Amino acid sequence: MAERIYLNNEWKFSNSFEEAMILPKFDASKLVSVRIPHTVKETPLHYFDENEYQMVSGYIRKLDIPAKHKGKKLLLTIDGAAHSCEIYVNGTKAGEHHCGYTAVTVDITEYINFGEENTLVVKVDSRESQNIPPFGFVIDYMTYGGIYRDVYLDIKNPTYMSDVFVSTRLADKFVDDNNVLCCGKSAVVTEVSLENATDGITFRQYMRKKNSDEEYRLIGEQIATEGQDVAVLSFNTGEVEVWDVESPTLYEIKTQMYKGDELLDESIVAIGFRKAVFKKSGFYLNGRKFKIRGLNRHQSYPYVGYAMPESMQKMDADILKKELGLNAVRTSHYPQSHYFLDRCDELGLLVFTELPGWQHIGDEQWKQQAVINVEDMIRQYRNHTSIVLWGVRINESVDDDEFYERTNAAAARLDSTRATGGVRCYKKSNLLEDVYTYNDFVHTGNNRGVDKKSAVTSNMEKSYLVSEYMGHMFPTKTFDWEEKRAEHAIRHANVLEDVLKNDDIAGSFGWCMFDYNTHKDFGSGDRICYHGVMDMFRNPKLAAAVYASGQHETPVLEISSTMDIGEHPGCNRGETYIFTNADSVKMYKGDAFIKEYTHDRKDYKYLENPPIKIDDYIGDLLQTGENMPKGQAEEVKSILNEVAKFGLYNMSKTAMAKAGKMMLVHHMSMDDAVKLYNKYIGDWGGESVAYRFEAIKDGEVVATVTKAAVINPDIRADVSHNELVEKNSYDVAAVRINAVDESGNVLPYYNDPVILEAKGAIELIGPSVMALSGGMGGTYVKSKGKKGKGKLIIKTVNGIEKEIDFTIDK
Ligand code: GAL
Repeated sequence: MAERIYLNNEWKFSNSFEEAMILPKFDASKLVSVRIPHTVKETPLHYFDENEYQMVSGYIRKLDIPAKHKGKKLLLTIDGAAHSCEIYVNGTKAGEHHCGYTAVTVDITEYINFGEENTLVVKVDSRESQNIPPFGFVIDYMTYGGIYRDVYLDIKNPTYMSDVFVSTRLADKFVDDNNVLCCGKSAVVTEVSLENATDGITFRQYMRKKNSDEEYRLIGEQIATEGQDVAVLSFNTGEVEVWDVESPTLYEIKTQMYKGDELLDESIVAIGFRKAVFKKSGFYLNGRKFKIRGLNRHQSYPYVGYAMPESMQKMDADILKKELGLNAVRTSHYPQSHYFLDRCDELGLLVFTELPGWQHIGDEQWKQQAVINVEDMIRQYRNHTSIVLWGVRINESVDDDEFYERTNAAAARLDSTRATGGVRCYKKSNLLEDVYTYNDFVHTGNNRGVDKKSAVTSNMEKSYLVSEYMGHMFPTKTFDWEEKRAEHAIRHANVLEDVLKNDDIAGSFGWCMFDYNTHKDFGSGDRICYHGVMDMFRNPKLAAAVYASGQHETPVLEISSTMDIGEHPGCNRGETYIFTNADSVKMYKGDAFIKEYTHDRKDYKYLENPPIKIDDYIGDLLQTGENMPKGQAEEVKSILNEVAKFGLYNMSKTAMAKAGKMMLVHHMSMDDAVKLYNKYIGDWGGESVAYRFEAIKDGEVVATVTKAAVINPDIRADVSHNELVEKNSYDVAAVRINAVDESGNVLPYYNDPVILEAKGAIELIGPSVMALSGGMGGTYVKSKGKKGKGKLIIKTVNGIEKEIDFTIDK
């Protein structure tokens, strides 16, 4: 039947391609041995030149094809080679591809010597001077180079299925108590593209629930029409469970192609049954109106750029869904790894995916490539249930109707089941797509979070979605000062609030998931855009807590301050916020209870769990400690609390009036006020106090945070997984490293180095010394192709040492 062999190992690499390499007699033994995913150049964390990864390089591999395969078809696929590649087999060019973000499949049968060793050479051009998207002008992200996604060989019968597009139709019959479609009668419609079609072909289709021990059951059988290259199969499935963000049920659809009794080819596609519809009034998932809440994701990682294997791709989807509590992601600004998308399918994370590009539209040749990119994107990604929207315009480009009519037509031809959008930064531009997708950067802190739909779209009858917000409007580093980091979080909350308020906005994607390396023309001058709600190692900034507070699985409790007054100008605390998804938070100062906070909805009416402002550092201590009558105590307290936040010289008129009243009516002097302030609020010159916060959910304490003076800093290392598995290639584990205090709080100004050492069957990715910044950093360890055990040792210069054990399996 059909067989797939992964070819990720045993490559030889040269960062300087020569024509002689193409020839089978070329001696590659002196070249470096590499495995795929591969980057042509490992780069520093920041401050590096984008020219470093721009080159024409060569990859060479031997390929033994047994004689028994004679008569078969051999199809070579490279899932991602940035940015152009030419494929040579035994000295002859077999194919080429000019997009770094889509796969290329080449039929190499005619170039192969069966029963012999063959030579495969891939010439990869990673220069940004090429006349293909996204190149042509400046780009706000590094584009890296290399064969960075899987390479595999499919061995097939001469008559085979070159493509199987499975789509579902759902009769909205069965709804749950919330009126959400939960199960229903369905049909599977499959478009099978045939190569070398002969007569007498029959298709059989089966299905079963994924990840279950169900047997496949036959759903239909159909005889192919003679001479047709595309067969359309349409079978009823009976009742199915619906795929939804809460319950992403997937089914495996097995399509078999027979000639007589001989099974010629087989494909298994995991698919969910769902209805995703963009309407004028918003987005509807399975019949219910649903606010899309997502972030934009680049596919880059520290040091290795794009070159990360399956587990790291999947980890990002897990972070988005489980740590940040999101229901959607935009793969800005190109199609991303199938592993990432597979995980989105499994997790119920909706995806907006788009063709490669950034603002610039090139000449006719460039546009032709862009149209090919749309076609490839849709053909290669349309079996991912999680994708609900295709982006068919170059991100933030100007109107070009003739060009965009072509990209839209390609989308309509290849996938009639999904809507199209196209990201713009212009209002009222020509809307050829189904959804007006707009980057709304209107929020500057004290104004509206987003513009109204009517102010932006050119067609109120169609759907409207915010595809970006924040980002360059407020770049924020993990090592920025406290008030800036808090402001960053609050601005994210403000935009989310307004997106919820505007009923006719289908949802939004914030800019962006994590900080990313960028070109010299963008970012903070160190080749980083600090736009993430996480850092490059996926450590959360405070803004991440705004998103995490929206999920219900894991308790969230973050306080925006270390409670050290010396961090603030004039020792004035400014605003301090609690981020939580609990019902309430109790705050204690030392042992004294101060206040129980709830989501009071004063500033935020729509966000489910908005930030809470701390407005009391005193509680009823004035009554209990000073015997002050309640009325007076409340008024004195409100003055002191205001002074604590904004200082004596910034008191509001109300507070001034109250202060006057205290002097006149209660004969309090300035001296009395200062004494009370020093005693109950604390100032420069007072002793620091410990604060404790308890998050309470359904009457139980679900999380505790203590903010106290740091005595013994420690290191915490969170590892993605300790069991690395060599499957189709090497495996990588991510280690997020944080400097923490005794209570586990990240130490925001711990910018010290950590020394990393990998032993045994693992190796480090990146340098063996890295400086934490903002108390955070990380590293990656990689399996070396062998089974065994490995150990990562993390040390600080102050003698802290941590060890993490790994096992490597094959
Ligand atoms: C947008 C662009 C993104 C990123 C962002 C920063 O204009 O689409 O790629 O540059 O700005 O805020």
